[in-house]
Parts: sequence; structure tokens; C-alpha cells
Amino acid sequence: HFNTTTGYGYNDLGRETLEKVYADVFHTEDALVRPQITCGTHALALALSANLRPNDKLVYISGKPYDTLEEVIGIRPSNGSLAEYGVKYDQVDLLENGEFDFEGIKEKITNDVKVVGIQRSKGYATRPTLSVEKIGQAIKAVKEINPNIIVMVDNCYGEFVEEIEPSDVGADMIVGSLNKKSGWRACSYWWIYLWNKNKCIENCSYRLTTPGLGKEVGANLGVMSSFY
Ligand SMILES: Cc1ncc(COP(=O)(O)O)c(C=O)c1O
Repeated sequence: HFNTTTGYGYNDLGRETLEKVYADVFHTEDALVRPQITCGTHALALALSANLRPNDKLVYISGKPYDTLEEVIGIRPSNGSLAEYGVKYDQVDLLENGEFDFEGIKEKITNDVKVVGIQRSKGYATRPTLSVEKIGQAIKAVKEINPNIIVMVDNCYGEFVEEIEPSDVGADMIVGSLNKKSGWRACSYWWIYLWNKNKCIENCSYRLTTPGLGKEVGANLGVMSSFY
């Protein structure tokens, strides 16, 4: 599993097993855990752009997303943003006490909403972190409106803080980067990206590499022992 692969990276046993381990730990169907995903913002941009198409709508229900996502989504105009590709955006702010606004969620989850975003950790905001239990309640509310909506949780800084993860309470994709976590070896290529259900798995792999190639390529270039 620690062998170096180069070139295309077909049949990389170390990479494929590592992704199975992550899927097992997070109780997901599959995972993308790759040095080619450069940071948390990249992982989130990948998850969103892989699953949204022109005229689809993204709604964040935990208020304004982490600052770097403003450029990814196009809340702040930016070259290459989702807005430039015709993806619409709206958000439901948290209530003053930091709780989800269930009335607001009902109002804003319209037929054109494809992906709902929830940010677990507070980033630069002053609100409390959202517990997995509360995230589960919000996911339930969203799925009651439309079970086909893909719920993506920005899990940055959240991994292993509680005994359960958002993937245990119905999230379709959970996205994060492990290198910032205290107690973990500081290592610049500990970026992870996980998903749970739907076709999210395929979509993300096609966006990370290319349509048709997906997860099959991606040489590990000798970094596998650090990932394990
Ligand atoms: C909640 C949250 N989302 C996304 C990010 C972006 O991660 P990165 O800085 O690795 O791009 C961070 C970074 O701290 C974060 O706290």
C-alpha cells in the first residue's frame, strides 16, 4: 500500500484502499482522499461544481459561507465562479441564537434548488459551531421538502470532534480537510473529500480528473505512507 505509483496511476492499491478506509470510518459509500485536492476550499469548490449545472440553485442554510467560498460561488464577483456558469445562489441566515431558521428554510427551498450547503464550523463568524444532531434536524427538514436535494456539509475543522459525523445523519456529501486538525500531523496533503450517496461520487471524480476517467487515475507519487 505504500508503493509509489507514477504516470496515470491506474490500479493504485494504496490509494484505493485508503479511500475505502475513509468511507468505512465515515460510514459513506465512497470517498475521494487525494493529494491532488489542494485545500479545503478546493474540495468544496470541487463538490459544488461537480454537482451543480447551469440554472440550478445552491442555498446555504447556515448563513454566509466561509470567506473563500464567496469567490467560488460568485457572491463576490470572481473569474470562473459558479455564478459565471449560471448557478444561482441564495442563503438562509441562522437565527440570532445560532439555531437553524426552519421557517426561512421552508420559504427558500424552491423547485430549482439542487444543492443545500451547511457549514458545521463557524469559520471567521462568531456564531457557535453546529452540532451533528442539529445538522441532522436541518437535513431532515430539507429532505421533507424535497428528498432529491443534495445536502453538502462543509465539515472543515469538524472531523472526529463528535462520535457521529454529518454522514451519519443524512448528509449526501461531507467535505473537509484534515491538515488543520489539532493532534494530527501537520502535513500539507491531508486533504480529504468525502461523500455519501447519490451520484455525487461519480460527479466529483469526473470533475477532479476528467469525464470518463474519474477515480481510475491519479498517481500517488510516493506520498501514500503519509496518508496512512
Ligand atoms: C469552515 C471552513 N470551511 C472552509 C475552509 C477553507 O479551507 P482551506 O483554508 O483549506 O481552503 C475553512 C478554513 O479554515 C473553514 O474553517
